[in-house]
Amino acid sequence: MAKKLFIRTYGCQMNVYDSARMADVLAPLGYAPAEAPDGADMVIINTCHIREKASEKTFHELGRLRQLKEQKAAEGGRMVLAVAGCVAQAEGAEIMSRAPYVDMVFGPQAYHRLPEMVARATREAGSGVLDTDFPVESKFDHLPEEQALQGHSAFLTVQEGCDKFCTFCVVPYTRGAEFSRPAGQILEEARRLVRAGALEITLLGQNVNAYHGEGPDGRDWGLGRLIRALAEIDGLERIRYTTSHPRDMDDDLIAAHGEVPQLMPYLHLPVQSGSDRILEAMNRKHKAEAYLRIVEKLRAARPDLALSSDFIVGFPGERDADFEATMQLVREVGYAQAFSFKYSARPGTPAALLELQIDEAAKTERLAALQALLAEQQLAFNRSMAGRTLPVLVEKTGKLPGQLIGKSPYLQSVVIEGTPRLIGSIVPVAISAGYQNSLAGTVETASPAALAS
Ligand code: 5AD
Ligand code: SF4
Repeated sequence: MAKKLFIRTYGCQMNVYDSARMADVLAPLGYAPAEAPDGADMVIINTCHIREKASEKTFHELGRLRQLKEQKAAEGGRMVLAVAGCVAQAEGAEIMSRAPYVDMVFGPQAYHRLPEMVARATREAGSGVLDTDFPVESKFDHLPEEQALQGHSAFLTVQEGCDKFCTFCVVPYTRGAEFSRPAGQILEEARRLVRAGALEITLLGQNVNAYHGEGPDGRDWGLGRLIRALAEIDGLERIRYTTSHPRDMDDDLIAAHGEVPQLMPYLHLPVQSGSDRILEAMNRKHKAEAYLRIVEKLRAARPDLALSSDFIVGFPGERDADFEATMQLVREVGYAQAFSFKYSARPGTPAALLELQIDEAAKTERLAALQALLAEQQLAFNRSMAGRTLPVLVEKTGKLPGQLIGKSPYLQSVVIEGTPRLIGSIVPVAISAGYQNSLAGTVETASPAALAS
């Protein structure tokens, strides 16, 4: 009988990808995915260190899982409990000592060694396994081929790590230095995903547009070159990539937005702040004006490009005028969507040590004002789709009978009336309305005259 594996995933899409690959690594050992941790033979929590109070929340969840583990033991079974991801990477030793009932703790660069770790953890029950090295070998050379694809949209990690060291961010410490997979390996994985039914692939990396991998021709390939090669794969209809840094938005990649029809007209390009003083304190290595010029170039290449960003309000030392500069930048760019956060000090990052931390009330006020403006822009953008016909990738059934959910080229959720037979295809949808977080529409059927011609 298959052993039950439950993985809970927090944080970014790279963690979603990593969790799927952990399941791939464990499948040959007889582990099959389960829906809940109760009674599971292995539970992995794949953590995110960017979350506020990330380690406290991890210990809290471990406390609850400990009860399930004890229950399983009382029934004569054994639950292997593991902590993976960025909290594991940053606080591995602390987890092992504060939660000794945890069997395995491993970072994002070590999960290809899961079979060895599982063997050790089950052989030497009670003595935990810690693996938070940044190994010299790449895990990508040691992972099995991925299992059946769920849905028609897939993630593919092409780059990991970050050398930018923004002063608020833990990623350079938890994910390590920038690393790009060789292009040939990525193209092979993409072909397999398309054969398994993927119509859309989202290329992932903490700094995805810093991609510089070795091409099959032995040369250095940037992300633009890689995207052009991926676009030649028959059946791959949509390509996206995330997350990008403004500094790495080179001309070839910008040009690809105008030249590669499969590259979707939506880009997540975090700016964090509109104030040069704050950008400097954040060590972002770009000014607000440079960001606006990049946006201008991108829109010249692809006029309908929809933009998204991350913002942090209340960074140490942020004055009203700095915050106003952020609001002004938002008004100038006009976002289709965005994520915004109150600054919160992460232990071990330089900004956590800065004086002039902003008080909570000011952060709350600024965040509310920014989110109101972003929500207004998002609603206006969604409403502007009404009356248009958009190609929609139909992904699943909706909550109500006869409803389907799909994705527009601009990454909007589209609620469609139609038959489930359309799942897994891209169909033209006449958009009837745009709301705050979604669009509504009906599938356009070709008129008899159009069919005849
Ligand atoms: N405080 C608030 N937001 C943060 N982010 C990263 N670190 C912090 C922090 N210390 C946000 C940034 C980043 C996104 C993934 O999370 O906006 O782009
Ligand atoms: Fe973090 Fe900055 Fe690197 Fe993004 S670019 S992962 S925010 S350090």
